[in-house]
Amino acid sequence: MGCQYFDDPCDHGADTFTIAIPKVTFGRGCLREAGARASGLGMTRVAVFTDPFLRDSAYLDTVLDSLKQAGLDAAVFDEITIEADDASVARGADFIATGNFDGVVSVGGGSVMDTAKAAMVYGLYPSGDFLDYFAPPLGAGKAIPGRLLPHLACPTTSGTGSECTSLSVLRINNLSTKFVLGNPLLLPQEALIDPVCCATLPAMVVASTGFDLLCHALECYTARAYTRWDKVDDPRKRPLIQGANPWSDLAARKALEIVGEFMERGVNNADDHQARDQLMWGASLAGMAFGNTGTHLGHALSYGVTHLMHDVTTEGYAVKSPFVPHGISVVVSAPAIFRYTAEAAPERHFEAAGYLQADLQGAGSADSGEALAKRIIELMQKTGVPNGLNEVGFGPADVPALAASTARQVRAIANSPRETNRVDIENIYASAMSY
Ligand SMILES: [Fe+2]
Repeated sequence: MGCQYFDDPCDHGADTFTIAIPKVTFGRGCLREAGARASGLGMTRVAVFTDPFLRDSAYLDTVLDSLKQAGLDAAVFDEITIEADDASVARGADFIATGNFDGVVSVGGGSVMDTAKAAMVYGLYPSGDFLDYFAPPLGAGKAIPGRLLPHLACPTTSGTGSECTSLSVLRINNLSTKFVLGNPLLLPQEALIDPVCCATLPAMVVASTGFDLLCHALECYTARAYTRWDKVDDPRKRPLIQGANPWSDLAARKALEIVGEFMERGVNNADDHQARDQLMWGASLAGMAFGNTGTHLGHALSYGVTHLMHDVTTEGYAVKSPFVPHGISVVVSAPAIFRYTAEAAPERHFEAAGYLQADLQGAGSADSGEALAKRIIELMQKTGVPNGLNEVGFGPADVPALAASTARQVRAIANSPRETNRVDIENIYASAMSY
């Protein structure tokens, strides 16, 4: 199959891909299964990770009651910031190291799940330097010495898909930027996805997480094909960012269809359970996709935004300035990005625009970048998110610094379908000021 994928010869490239996903349980009310599921994973004393906003929520109560009914002992850790950072991980690592736990249940958004994953790494295998387990060039690329604890991940937002990935995205405070800790050991064993959790989310949170899900799916579907990456001799070294592949295509395609049909409804009407349930399912599908593909320029350029943001807040988030939520930091550059990448994979961009319900009347694959960009802009405007970099506090003078920051995301940039250098990144940022 590999040699036919993307009609690409694979004489010198990878001819094999690996898929890793957790056992997934999805449905309204399924948080009540937390005790049975944790018990099934062999847990007896559980570290429950959550955040201060969910500490008194009905969702956490449901999970704690279920653990108790299953006869499990639980202790709660909630000292997690809304954007997971190394300080939250250090506190969580202490909690793991001293708590005598045999399992972890995380209840929250991406920050909570990502903190839980990394806290196990540093709690069980302390490291002299926090960056030791991160990939070069930022980190030392050291192997995590052994297994982590079993992890049952319970997402409460419809965006990150972290419950289905081997990744932890963390802000490194002294570098003021985010980097990805990726390792197959970080994959949760089970995910418990209860869309009831989305019913009370503010519209802007649904919009931000929805655009995160959209970009996960879109970046997967348009990523460089796995057949174009170098073959690895040692299968244990096959990278998580392995490029587009037939499995991820399936999940990304369905996730794009869900966004195309339900995004506007889900953001603009909290009572539209069908739409919000679908977005929750779409987020998990997109997580299953990008966890086995990697993202590309959308996410790479978002890290420049969150690194250099200043004096900006976002409606719907109780976080002081500067703060741009992850999904918005990604989507503000997305229309400019897909206008740029389309020429390298026009058919893929055209198909993606169709899945998102773009108006393709009279259009052909040569118009795919514009059609896709227009549809993303339409969704941005109908859901009230910032209309480009200008509205999150950036101007043309910021472009060189944004590009310099983003250039550190080496592997994600290389996962773009189109060869991309620093000047290209500057041009994309310059085109993403407003739409
Ligand atoms: Fe993301």
